[in-house]
Amino acid sequence: MGSIDTKASSADYHERALTALKDKSLFISDAFIDGKWKSSDKTFPVYEPSTATVLGKVADCDLADFQNAIKSASEAQPKFFASTTGTSRGALLRKWYELIIQNQDDIATILCLENGKTYAEAKGEVVYAASFIAWFAEEATRAYGVTIPSSTPHTTLYTTREPVGVCGIITPWNFPAAMITRKVGPALAAGCSVVIKPPSETPFTCLALTKLAVEAGIPPAIIQVCPTKNREAATELATNPLVNKISFTGSTGVGKMLAKLAAGTLKKLSLELGGNAPFIVFDDADLDLAVEGAMFCKFRCTGQTCVCANRLYVQKGVAKEFTAKLVKKVAALQMGPGLDTKTTQGPLVNKSAVDKVKEHVADALSKGAKVEFGGSAPDNSGFFFEPTVLSGVTADALVSKDETFGPLAPIFEFETEEEAIKLANDTEFGLAGYFFSRNIGRAMRVAQRLQVGMVGVNTGKISAAEAPFGGVKESGYGKEGSLYGLEDYQIIKSVTIGNQDA
Ligand code: SIN
Repeated sequence: MGSIDTKASSADYHERALTALKDKSLFISDAFIDGKWKSSDKTFPVYEPSTATVLGKVADCDLADFQNAIKSASEAQPKFFASTTGTSRGALLRKWYELIIQNQDDIATILCLENGKTYAEAKGEVVYAASFIAWFAEEATRAYGVTIPSSTPHTTLYTTREPVGVCGIITPWNFPAAMITRKVGPALAAGCSVVIKPPSETPFTCLALTKLAVEAGIPPAIIQVCPTKNREAATELATNPLVNKISFTGSTGVGKMLAKLAAGTLKKLSLELGGNAPFIVFDDADLDLAVEGAMFCKFRCTGQTCVCANRLYVQKGVAKEFTAKLVKKVAALQMGPGLDTKTTQGPLVNKSAVDKVKEHVADALSKGAKVEFGGSAPDNSGFFFEPTVLSGVTADALVSKDETFGPLAPIFEFETEEEAIKLANDTEFGLAGYFFSRNIGRAMRVAQRLQVGMVGVNTGKISAAEAPFGGVKESGYGKEGSLYGLEDYQIIKSVTIGNQDA
């Protein structure tokens, strides 16, 4: 495995990158409230993870800012819905999509700097993010109602779909662009307004996307952005009666807290929470395909995705061969700063993320696991941890219960299909699950028995604008993207027209 390019990691790394932006006005540190960019005396720092240096300081919104944003979004939303059609909202989204694509290099640079993922991954994320806007530009025109045969004579019964209203959007740092667009796209398509609390680790991408949304012609008060580190202020989104819906992606702990707070005003909720994805390799699998799948869904974003393979269950007969093949690929990863073209594995987001990987590795080793590759954090200033493969991991290891959210591939061995399913389902989480097998019967059986919201069979890649994204159990509820994504931002109204003979 390659070492870190210390030249690229020097303190002026991000300054040089920001100077090279084609449109420097996309790097914004203000909030966007009531249609105006708003600076603040109070700011918080955002770090560049490969050097652990401050990338910039962003306006730290307070309670009054959130209240103003919510009030303004609430006044603007009915006018927006009344003055647009699905087709015209779709056209606005399409324009926003085009601007994102035109500015993809700059957005990817900003994203790469604040998140740490490689530039190639950042570019991929910008295109992925834009695909949700394109998808919901189309879906905006498909908000069908139904006519229902009434059981009462001389009566017509039909349904319409209306926007839920003001949506509080709370997003994570691991996908600074895609988690914004996967929520804001359907919200705007439905005719809602949004107040976004972007992640405090990665607010710059959201602010750049917002600038492009306004340039696309989306009415300014329909999209409001309140960056903050102030938990009390952000809580306003979950308690203010003018907010009708919360969409949150993040940890199960925070999701449960938001659900309790939102219960006070019975807000509609979409919660995309933690995962603990099993990745099962059966002895009838194509092992090269399985390794390719593991590389993608374990090491994408340095292991920091909710759908990451967290537990690799490999059938005993193929465990040695699979491990050797995986180690060969992992050893070829090149750790370094995201903007360095040689880098194929970026840093983690912050120090506590590195500490969690260290804890999971130490715990697994103390219970008998063996390091096949990696296993430690390099001695430098950035938030790096070596891509790591452990074998012989046991069911009592911390990593079997808790998602690492880092570049650790722990290999557990199993003997039978029944055992693999039992182990895979032995968790309170149920976001994603993967397995590899060339047996069609087994493929059908296991896909049905895994207690998750999303299954990858012979692939580690399950995310796309058209694919329903969301979990079961304590991984949350609601579906994002796909033909279901718009519904989460709508209410169904029924209209009964009676006494038509009168
Ligand atoms: C997530 O980690 O929450 C999102 C991952 C994805 O969209 O693939």
